[in-house]
Amino acid sequence: MLHTGRHFLQIPGPTNVPDRVLRAMDRPVIDHRGPEFAELGREVLDGLRSIFRTSGPVIVFPSSGSGAWEAAIVNTLSPCNRVLMFETGHFSSLWKQVAERHDLQVEYVPGDWRQGADPAECESRLSDDKQHVIKAVMVVHNETSTGVTSRIPQIRAAMDRAKHPALLMVDTISSVGSIDYRHEEWGVDVTVGGSQKGLMLPPGLSFNAVSDKALAAGKSAKMHRYYWDWQEMLVPNRQGFFPYTPATNLLYALREALTMLHEEGLENVFARHARHAEATRAAARAWGLEIVCEKPAEYSNSSTALFMPEGHDADQLRQVILENFDMSLGAGLSKLARRVFRIGHLGHFNDLMLMGTLSGVEMGLRLAGVPHKDGGVAAAMNSLTTARTPEPAVNVK
Ligand SMILES: Cc1ncc(COP(=O)(O)O)c(C=O)c1O
Repeated sequence: MLHTGRHFLQIPGPTNVPDRVLRAMDRPVIDHRGPEFAELGREVLDGLRSIFRTSGPVIVFPSSGSGAWEAAIVNTLSPCNRVLMFETGHFSSLWKQVAERHDLQVEYVPGDWRQGADPAECESRLSDDKQHVIKAVMVVHNETSTGVTSRIPQIRAAMDRAKHPALLMVDTISSVGSIDYRHEEWGVDVTVGGSQKGLMLPPGLSFNAVSDKALAAGKSAKMHRYYWDWQEMLVPNRQGFFPYTPATNLLYALREALTMLHEEGLENVFARHARHAEATRAAARAWGLEIVCEKPAEYSNSSTALFMPEGHDADQLRQVILENFDMSLGAGLSKLARRVFRIGHLGHFNDLMLMGTLSGVEMGLRLAGVPHKDGGVAAAMNSLTTARTPEPAVNVK
């Protein structure tokens, strides 16, 4: 089928890249050892700190997010170390695999993929670990496969109550730049990030924000590392350079995206995502589709995963929507395959893009013969128009 107009990329990342960012990338590659590059390097490395909310270093790798998962591990831990992880969904399972392939012993708290990491369970496991064998607690902040956001401040508080010295490592790949997150204030030691979601960039950059404690742990960490070595990065980074060839044009893009986030203001960025998430859930409730996330306190502001009615296939619905309306929605992953579809509402996004997205879903439900109630789009419109703070009235004389 021939499509006109713009494709709707409403998967929970990669997200739509703003034209400003695309134009910023459309420049000649420069000498990555020259003065112009040093300025770019310093600017982005500095600008990232306010996004991760840290005064410490943020390390940038030319890789997808999985690389930053691996970097967090190899820079801080030694083979056979024990770590505590929580089964929140597909991405926590993948991070666990990364840990196991590095010969870590993973204590994996089982979960049903509808809840976030449990702070009480975290406290009890750490309190039982009197010998402090557990070296790190590793949590996915926003589990992209389920639309569940774990409460990191509560996890930190649980670790503090247990008086446990483990490092706290958090995957923010689908939350940084879209859901409130504070590396330093929340006492996180390693924050893992990626470029292709809330940061509105193409895929290809990943991040580690690191605390002093994480850097200190690196001194005795015995894992082999070269490409991911923080120390190799930090020395040239001070002058704005990288130890190997950086992804120059993605750094141009990053500079522009950081400018956009700063122009909007992080608080406004978070409020916008919260509004769009709430409107999406209003639509889901009106359709009568069940939200995967069970606890309202853990609803994700960047993506919403919805169950299909019994006996209906999410992939077939996604195909109908793609063919008819040129919109891509997220698939259900691993054990949620075909049972769930996911709506991404993060990154470069606005009210009308959300309404287009939800209209595509509602029309798709009709065309695919999926049992639902009409009125999701209307419910989202009500949510958006009632949730908006009215502009102060202007006195016309
Ligand atoms: C929460 C989370 N962690 C990790 C990853 C893996 O990142 P990448 O696919 O960029 O390697 C993703 C990808 O979607 C993710 O959503």
